[in-house]
Amino acid sequence: MIRPTEPDDAPSLLKIAIGTGVFKPMEIVALEEVLDDYFEGADALGHRAATYMSNDRPVGFAYYAPAAMTDRGWYLYWIAVAKNTQSRGIGSALLRHAEEEIRTSFGRVLFIETSSLPHYELTRKFYVKHGYWQECVVHDFYADGDDMVVFRKRLSATIA
Ligand SMILES: CC(C)(COP(=O)(O)OP(=O)(O)OC[C@H]1O[C@@H](n2cnc3c(N)ncnc32)[C@H](O)[C@@H]1OP(=O)(O)O)[C@@H](O)C(=O)NCCC(=O)NCCS
Repeated sequence: MIRPTEPDDAPSLLKIAIGTGVFKPMEIVALEEVLDDYFEGADALGHRAATYMSNDRPVGFAYYAPAAMTDRGWYLYWIAVAKNTQSRGIGSALLRHAEEEIRTSFGRVLFIETSSLPHYELTRKFYVKHGYWQECVVHDFYADGDDMVVFRKRLSATIA
């Protein structure tokens, strides 16, 4: 079951993100700040967080928000599934849920940024599998040898 993220989920979501083993410590700090801001009112700015529950426990989450200064552009800032439940369709369900919510909010394009490092290879495959186009690579963005790979998917067929 996917439901809106609640404040009590935060410790579990941080544990899930840490447990994936792919995020740097500074990214975990950023996630903690993002969740704090979300519960202090970022949801009023259109930010959304969704938690996937299994047996009454969070096992995955997604965080997405409008891209500032764009016409109905959105960013998927976070998606993560607990390591021991990966590859069972939970991430796909969360991504589809995010896309549906963004479409309902008349979102036009969804952007996702990720890293070029080898341990993100399955993640990049995951986006391609869901119809994302690899739009560009910003070399050495995160660090020397760690590029930013930008994926893009059009969510609305026509320009309103
Ligand atoms: C990427 C992620 C959200 C996908 O969620 P998931 O529940 O594991 O993925 P699903 O079961 O819905 O889809 C599986 C597909 O995704 C890809 N995939 C991504 N991560 C995978 C993993 N750890 N194990 C297996 N497949 C993975 C494969 O292409 C797979 O396709 P296949 O089943 O045809 O081989 C999840 O693996 C995860 O949390 N990864 C670590 C955190 C991360 O990279 N987040 C995104 C940062 S930009």
